[in-house]
Amino acid sequence: MEVIICADATEAARLAAGKVARVCRDAGPEPVLGVATGSSPLKLYAELTRLVEAGVLDLSRASAFALDEYVGLPPGHPESYAEVIRRTVTEPLGLDQSRVHTPDGFATDIHAAASAYEAAIRAAGGIDIQILGIGANGHIGFNEPTSSLASRTRIKSLAPRTRADNARFFGSPDEVPLHCLTQGLGTIMDAHALLLIAQGEAKAAAIAAVVEGPLTALVPGSVLQAHQHATVIIDEAAASELRLADYYRWTYANKPAWQRFDGELA
Ligand code: GLP
Repeated sequence: MEVIICADATEAARLAAGKVARVCRDAGPEPVLGVATGSSPLKLYAELTRLVEAGVLDLSRASAFALDEYVGLPPGHPESYAEVIRRTVTEPLGLDQSRVHTPDGFATDIHAAASAYEAAIRAAGGIDIQILGIGANGHIGFNEPTSSLASRTRIKSLAPRTRADNARFFGSPDEVPLHCLTQGLGTIMDAHALLLIAQGEAKAAAIAAVVEGPLTALVPGSVLQAHQHATVIIDEAAASELRLADYYRWTYANKPAWQRFDGELA
């Protein structure tokens, strides 16, 4: 796992965009992005938008697959992840809407919707880079603690902590759905590269558990330890509980130039 500690969230977003741009360039004209909701990747999306607008990153033929969707909201609900992805990713990055996918949490047959999502990812040739945030309880996507490390896209119940954390987007905590449809940990692990981005002290414990704790279903994000190409880009606050922080700083500072991706395409 590559851990990169940045001075602040702005630098983290710039580096993360460099990483995404590098993967897209290597993938050819039709890159497949895995995209996350939540506040963590918003600055990254803004930086990618800047690269697209500057004409140095071409995502016109890119596809995107979201990690997850609520189950129980009416179609078109502003907090449904289909809408959130449209507002924060599809429109600013100028993606072709027909190539942007979210799990169909509105389907009457939710199991069929889960299988169809897996099939759609396979048909696209797999995800080139999956962008991830981290829940305070260590979840990725909506894979809550004790999710199977081999899980595929499926319906899950949201943990009380997650419902409380996400209540800020709804009128009241009771309005947060009880269920979701999420890519499984096995699905996420199939992506060719993983990029986890986090900022702020509230994420420090989860980041320490993901990066340096045991690989355990109790901390779903720790599954990244078993991925061949996982990159974690965080600010100083999110890095504040890492025991080997100095080592990560030293490693990045001494990387061979060809391995760096800061300033990629910028
Ligand atoms: C949400 C999403 C995750 C996201 C996480 C953290 O519930 N399902 O994909 O990474 O929680 O959100 P935030 O980035 O807003 O802290």
